[in-house]
Amino acid sequence: MTGSAVGGKIPVAIVGNLNLDVRTSPIPSSVVLTGDGETSVTGIDESVGGGAANTAAAAALMGGEAHLCCAVGADELGTRLCRHLAGLGVRVHPAVKPVATGRSIALTWESHHRHFVSSLPNTRLLVEADIDLEALIRAGCRHLYRADVWFGDLMLAEGNTSLFRRARQAGMETSLDINWDPLWTTGGDHDRVGHRISLLKSALPSVSFVHGNERELALFTGAQSIQHSARLLREWGAGAVIVHRGAMGCAAATPAGWFEVPAVPVTRIVSEAGTGDVFTAAFLLNPHLPMEARLRECAAAAARHLQGSPRYTPALDSGGE
Ligand SMILES: Nc1ncnc2c1ncn2[C@@H]1O[C@H](COP(=O)(O)OP(=O)(O)OP(=O)(O)O)[C@@H](O)[C@H]1O
Ligand SMILES: [Mg+2]
Repeated sequence: MTGSAVGGKIPVAIVGNLNLDVRTSPIPSSVVLTGDGETSVTGIDESVGGGAANTAAAAALMGGEAHLCCAVGADELGTRLCRHLAGLGVRVHPAVKPVATGRSIALTWESHHRHFVSSLPNTRLLVEADIDLEALIRAGCRHLYRADVWFGDLMLAEGNTSLFRRARQAGMETSLDINWDPLWTTGGDHDRVGHRISLLKSALPSVSFVHGNERELALFTGAQSIQHSARLLREWGAGAVIVHRGAMGCAAATPAGWFEVPAVPVTRIVSEAGTGDVFTAAFLLNPHLPMEARLRECAAAAARHLQGSPRYTPALDSGGE
């Protein structure tokens, strides 16, 4: 194996969604969107979206060498998004699919709740063969992070498990963001939800770090407490669990024990979307730190993002340059 952190840059491999996000400024919590009508908001902007793309952008803006493996449609939007990311310093490895590039509408509420309405046909077609693991290793990547796992239907059955296994066999560390399966929002299809969870569970023995917020980890494991969720995930094979806890901070369950790190207080919040992605970008770029110090770096990056300085998920230019 060759490759190293050239010029101090740490190369990391990130696999998952790339799409357009259309983001609203906060909508008054009193507004009911299911009725006829119209709601005015202060602003609506466009940005690159997708957990993987956001993490890659943040990692590049933090000075890392972020390699993003994703699918795009064969259209102008896909080209525009890749060009924007490349302009931020991301090394994009897009697999072009004969569909439209995905779009997501991010509704943000004054109550701080968010709801995404998304159509991601490009990501649905991502397959393991689209990810050139050997090239990523040659580029020096020692950590492979899989985000947006529920949207790549074709990889759920076997591709994720195989990709993680091959990465571990090659000596890489691996991370999996459990995130939110859209089926958890609509509910109902109990068997399908359980089947998808069991598919991902089979990947855990090849996952060094499972990431997620308390709610996501609880839904995935069925456990009542975060400590119980983390214990189950480690029993199922995960090396460690990184827990996102919003303004309460974060925690990690590792073989060396349980660590808790408080949030860095923020005076004003400019941008909440993508906080978890920025946090994870910092995690990927600090493998040399002991866990507690590593989590402190992540918390500090998340606070910078929340306060809008710097902007780790900059809005897209309107001209498509
Ligand atoms: N209001 C806040 N104040 C300070 N730090 C915060 C705040 N919200 C989040 N953080 C920090 O960012 C980390 C990740 O945020 P969060 O818990 O919202 O992740 P998430 O639910 O995975 O988010 P996302 O939906 O963006 O993936 C937290 O663990 C915490 O350290
Ligand atoms: Mg998250």
